[in-house]
Amino acid sequence: MKTRHGLWLILCASIGLAGVGFFVPSVLGVPGSGGQVQVPTSDADFFLPGTQPNKDSIAFEPILASNNCSYCHGEYNMDVAPFDSWVVSMMGQSARDPVWHAALAIANQDANLAGELCIRCHAPGAWLGGRSATGDLSQFGAEDFDGINCHFCHRVVNPTAGSLSAVGYPNNIDPTPDPEILGALSAEGLLPDAALGNASFVVDPHDVRRGPFDDVPMNFHGGPELIFSPYHSDGAMCGTCHDVSNPVYSPLPSGQLVLNQLGQPHPTMDKGDMFPEQRTYSEWLNSTFATTGVSFPDNRFGGNHPTGVMKSCQDCHMPDQQGGGCVFYDGDPKTERPNVPQHSFAGANTWVLRGVQTQMGDDAGYFGLTQERVDASIARNIQMLRDASDMVLNQVGGQLAVKIINQSGHKLPTGYPEGRRAWLNVKFFDATGVMLAERGAYNMQTATLNAGDTKVYLARHVIDEAIAAATHLPVGQMMHLALSNKVEFDNRIPPRGFTNAAFVEVGAAPIGYAYPDGQYWDTTNYAIPAGAKSAVATFYYQTSSREYMEFVRDTALNGSGVTAYNLWVQHGRSAPVDMDSVSITFAASNPADFNGDGVVNGTDLTILLSNWGGTGQGDASGDGIINGTDLSVLLASWTG
Ligand code: HEC
Ligand code: HEC
Ligand code: HEC
Ligand code: HEC
Ligand code: HEC
Repeated sequence: MKTRHGLWLILCASIGLAGVGFFVPSVLGVPGSGGQVQVPTSDADFFLPGTQPNKDSIAFEPILASNNCSYCHGEYNMDVAPFDSWVVSMMGQSARDPVWHAALAIANQDANLAGELCIRCHAPGAWLGGRSATGDLSQFGAEDFDGINCHFCHRVVNPTAGSLSAVGYPNNIDPTPDPEILGALSAEGLLPDAALGNASFVVDPHDVRRGPFDDVPMNFHGGPELIFSPYHSDGAMCGTCHDVSNPVYSPLPSGQLVLNQLGQPHPTMDKGDMFPEQRTYSEWLNSTFATTGVSFPDNRFGGNHPTGVMKSCQDCHMPDQQGGGCVFYDGDPKTERPNVPQHSFAGANTWVLRGVQTQMGDDAGYFGLTQERVDASIARNIQMLRDASDMVLNQVGGQLAVKIINQSGHKLPTGYPEGRRAWLNVKFFDATGVMLAERGAYNMQTATLNAGDTKVYLARHVIDEAIAAATHLPVGQMMHLALSNKVEFDNRIPPRGFTNAAFVEVGAAPIGYAYPDGQYWDTTNYAIPAGAKSAVATFYYQTSSREYMEFVRDTALNGSGVTAYNLWVQHGRSAPVDMDSVSITFAASNPADFNGDGVVNGTDLTILLSNWGGTGQGDASGDGIINGTDLSVLLASWTG
């Protein structure tokens, strides 16, 4: 029998990871896991409505691998062909994602069979095929590693029956098959509430092709029917998976989330009564994007979009391309469309795809991950991050005010809560260009952020006293996805149209931080150090922090955490991306003129006193604390 250690060495050798800098464990016992108690959940605790796994291949025709589609929908134009951009998207690689493999192992360690829930969303084909009963990847077939694939998405059905209209359809399109599917589910009590999310999707049992166009000139698919589905152009389709909740919890009247009675489904099936891990869809649904839409005159999103008014997730994440929807239609003006949706799903992940490519080794090209496509995908994600925000700098007396405006369709950042973060870095220079001071410094070699003297945007999900007692983990422990039951902190910047009431309602309110209704920006003040004549402020985003990657390395017992960690090291430790960078030259000013009105008077004194003991506005001396020193500076420069 191979020891775990032996297996690890083979893995190392096969992906060429020998050498300095990589973490090779000396003993594979895992620190900190010794006394942990697993929560004794079963698959019943993770039950959710929607189409259920069906092992009977006659009633539910299997989900086909993407190579059944790439022959016509791929290999012709890297920007247009659905396959060519999908295959290098995180959704295309969601079941090969090494960070997911590690988090999946940890979830199963933490709560028995929690992996069932993870697989349902990250590898829906495997789940629907009944190959996730063990909660891990051991029963996956080769096609299951396709992750969220073509055939799955193009068989998804609108659970609210939708509004299929028969007007103008070619004869080969049947506009009304859905009542049958929804009726059958409803009869079994399985029809999901459309707002539930959590991968409670409805999937057509038949091999059909549901898509956004009602004018497809000819059905090239042989047997499979073409079905016009407006749902595919609606954010609700994405919402099925982009609101993630842990169903093992229910609230007490106090609001505290406690474990349900185990061994049975969630009592209300209301996502408001579950732990809110991700709320990207709800954030969007309660923003201006979902109502009137938002115009971007600079066309930063949407590709070839006719108006530049961005509404749906698809508008921004599947930008319109001029070209053919299939290889035969590309290059012919009669069959090209101005709006073939690019399947790039560009988001914020700038390194994991390279990790997947490395793990595939020589097979990467065979699976579609050519170097050119991988580089294009990472470049699209970096561009998406740069388009996500704008920065405005202002000098207010002796303070530098750094304003970040969220231009995305949800919180910034949004989505996965663990390890994702954005922060401000400010460098102050003297008249000769020598750096005097730096806030939010990041060390590229050690991947260490000095978070103490700057603003970091993130969410912190933790376990409370009750779960700590049940699992023997420390109170406030982060990163155990299957166990977290308390949002301790969330200062991520809301989108346009934000209101506190609506965000509280969907479990997406700011916590430990305040944004007034309507505010989709945030401002941070830095005291300008004595002698500083200019500054450069940079807004950084990082996909996977060192703290998170060390956690998975040290916590996953099956070696998957070490693999993920080593890939992270090999690919630059998730190098931060500069989303915005702006410089400013300071006008001569009095450091005690806090409101920047040119005089030092009672107004400034009030500002100083109201921030006494804190930091930011009022810190005339620039030493990071507002105290007597600042009062002396103010009084010495009093102009009245
Ligand atoms: C033999 C070639 C061929 C194969 C193989 C093929 N398709 Fe298509 N498909 C086409 C053509 C041609 C169109 C029309 C494109 C257009 O009008 O822009 C199309 C259109 C579609 C549409 C759009 C339907 C609409 O109403 O908007 C979807 C969805 C689709 N295909 C999915 C798939 C999936 C999923 C697979 C693999 C399981 C697949 N196709 C395999 C040729 C093919
Ligand atoms: C106005 C354009 C826009 C709309 C509309 C929009 N997004 Fe985004 N999205 C962005 C930008 C820009 C980013 C990169 C910045 C970030 O990470 O938040 C992003 C990032 C993401 C990420 C990665 C987040 C992270 O930090 O890990 C996910 C997931 C995502 N979007 C999903 C969605 C879904 C689902 C919807 C609809 C419910 C949607 N988006 C609507 C622009 C948009
Ligand atoms: C995450 C779900 C998802 C996945 C995975 C996905 N698609 Fe799509 N696809 C969509 C959506 C949504 C649209 C419509 C977008 C819109 O209306 O803006 C679409 C549109 C299309 C169209 C219409 C374009 C045309 O000209 O007919 C085709 C064809 C298509 N997809 C094929 C594929 C193929 C092939 C794959 C796999 C390589 C794939 N899709 C993977 C969601 C998906
Ligand atoms: C079956 C569930 C499912 C559906 C449906 C789905 N997604 Fe996703 N999506 C995921 C998962 C899971 C991931 C994360 C994969 C990973 O990182 O391993 C993801 C990742 C993403 C990302 C990349 C985030 C990043 O960090 O770069 C974007 C953008 C995104 N989805 C947008 C969409 C849009 C737009 C739609 C609707 C057209 C959609 N998704 C529909 C499950 C889904
Ligand atoms: C309802 C859908 C859904 C479920 C269930 C789900 N996830 Fe995810 N997961 C997502 C989406 C969507 C993203 C991408 C968000 C983003 O990029 O910000 C994601 C991202 C992740 C990532 C980040 C991957 C990376 O490359 O950085 C990890 C790790 C992860 N999920 C682990 C899990 C585990 C473990 C479980 C089970 C306990 C789970 N997920 C259950 C939808 C889901």
